[in-house]
Amino acid sequence: MIRKIPTKSLEVGMFVSDVGRAWFNHPWKTKSKYISDRSEIDELVNFGIDEVYIDTQKTLKPQEAPSASSKDLPYRAKEGSYRVRSQPIAPKPEPVSALEQELPKAAKAYNRALDTSKALVAACRMNKRIEVNEVQENVDELVESVSRNQDALTALIKLRRFDDYTYTHSLNVSVLSIASGKTLGLSDKELKILGLGTMFHDLGKCRIPAFILNKPSKLTDEEFVIMRNHAALSAEILIEQKLPVDDLVIKVARHHHERMDGSGYPDNLKGADIPHLATICGLSDVYDALTSDRVYHKGMLPHEALKFIYGLRGTHFQPEWVDRFVQSVGIYPPGSVVELNSGEMAVVMEINHSSLLSPLIKVVADPNGQLYSRPKLLDLSNPDNKDTAIKAVITPKQAGFEPSYYFNIKGQE
Ligand SMILES: [Fe+2]
Ligand SMILES: [Fe+2]
Repeated sequence: MIRKIPTKSLEVGMFVSDVGRAWFNHPWKTKSKYISDRSEIDELVNFGIDEVYIDTQKTLKPQEAPSASSKDLPYRAKEGSYRVRSQPIAPKPEPVSALEQELPKAAKAYNRALDTSKALVAACRMNKRIEVNEVQENVDELVESVSRNQDALTALIKLRRFDDYTYTHSLNVSVLSIASGKTLGLSDKELKILGLGTMFHDLGKCRIPAFILNKPSKLTDEEFVIMRNHAALSAEILIEQKLPVDDLVIKVARHHHERMDGSGYPDNLKGADIPHLATICGLSDVYDALTSDRVYHKGMLPHEALKFIYGLRGTHFQPEWVDRFVQSVGIYPPGSVVELNSGEMAVVMEINHSSLLSPLIKVVADPNGQLYSRPKLLDLSNPDNKDTAIKAVITPKQAGFEPSYYFNIKGQE
């Protein structure tokens, strides 16, 4: 019998039949195996996997199921708590879209770029030379992925929000910038420059004292001055190292905090004086910072972050740039969990860029929270589905399931 239990309740000898995550989203080489050592449980816990599916019939040393798993918690779970259920696992559907076909390639490109991003931070901290060709190669792969499918990489950063912000932030800003640059009609050459500049945009933070960077409370005026210097420092590091990069790469790094009304830094540039690529980087930067979980705050849901950014329209950012950014990332990005007017739960599978409120969704649970064994794919832009509407966006924790599970990625085993 397949049961879903809290990861912390795992015991040596139990058989984990599914970690409930896509292959790129958990620390094991396979998603099912016997627990032979407590360290394997710790691995899952440290990875942020709160629940797993076990096959009780395969448990080597029969244990009583942990008490939490036998409680039938109410469907409307309280904020921050998981519902625990022992329902059959939903079958993995066949690939349904170009996005799903691109996801494995996007994941490989993302993972490679993440390694490079880590190496970049380390090199900067130790004052070593930056391997710019390696970074450019990774960026080129990101651009190629976005060219094949605009949303696969942005879906991926929405689905895997567990890595350290220090390393993922620049990469995520790069992905978001390339995707919105594509919406804006930039050439591949410009996208590659934008991708490289965004990967370097916060490099200067390696020269900012950690106690300021990680301070959970408000910075003092003096600390704020030091912090704001990171953008100029990012550009200086690139110049110091005499890296063979386009001037625009350095400008993206220096000017990503400039704002349309001149309130930004370091040069208080205004309007058209701000390089366009730096503005794209700035929008992606704000979006990623708002939607990321940090030690001191929980990340906003995408639609909340876009609402915040919309409030900066006409002051910090030119209106048309904000509109294009929203069109690119979508109000409900793939991987969002939504509640429908029917009370059912659905996962957003694809953005409809010409009708952002009508994405392609997969209806996965009934109004009582019971997972469907056959989730239904529904195109909300199809007139036949005009009576179905998104009522609210909820977190995976509130929903009680992991949305990445519904993205069928080849090579998952
Ligand atoms: Fe920055
Ligand atoms: Fe940043």
